[in-house]
Amino acid sequence: MKIAVFVSGRGSNLKSILEKVPVSKAQVMAVVSDKVDCQAFKIADEYKIKIYSACNKEKEGYISYTTLIEKLKAENINLIVLAGFLKKIPDEFVDAFKNRIINIHPALLPSFGGKGMYGLNVHTAVFNSSAKVSGATIHFVDKIYDNGFIIAQKAIDISDLNSPEEIASRVLNIEHELLPFVIEKFSEGKVVIENRRTKILN
Ligand code: GRF
Repeated sequence: MKIAVFVSGRGSNLKSILEKVPVSKAQVMAVVSDKVDCQAFKIADEYKIKIYSACNKEKEGYISYTTLIEKLKAENINLIVLAGFLKKIPDEFVDAFKNRIINIHPALLPSFGGKGMYGLNVHTAVFNSSAKVSGATIHFVDKIYDNGFIIAQKAIDISDLNSPEEIASRVLNIEHELLPFVIEKFSEGKVVIENRRTKILN
């Protein structure tokens, strides 16, 4: 299976995919960002992976999403993974890769999701809510923020933690396990949608 990973910053989820998903199961063919430079691009360079900066309007150093779709289709990419990508994916892109775009969110959706809920904002909202658990969610991407069918979740106890930063760190460890696991299941054709629910087959 050939995948493209969309990033905006640090790239730790990209790195965990590269380190944990066997290339026999899935190869990262491209890394895409809304930025012209970010830490995640440095990881892509280390692995000699093509990088693209994409945006809705023609800008120096960027390609349009229309052009990006052509390039990713030409590479036979069949799974798009949003890993810390902070922009909303344009509708034309969602249509071009229907049910083939997944996102990892650092909380247990549908709680603590939606526009503006990214990075430390999420963990601050969780901390201030006095919730005793948090975790990570992987879901399909559709045309509404953090709204697509949930594919997988893993919850963790945060009752012993004393700050949003501590929650962020514990949740990130979960993300680094859950995302490679789900990608591998996709590569085995074991992620299925039945009766409006997503299942991961054994
Ligand atoms: C992760 O916490 C992810 O859940 C969220 O953004 C963060 C990206 O971190 N969407 P990284 O760039 O993968 O290190």
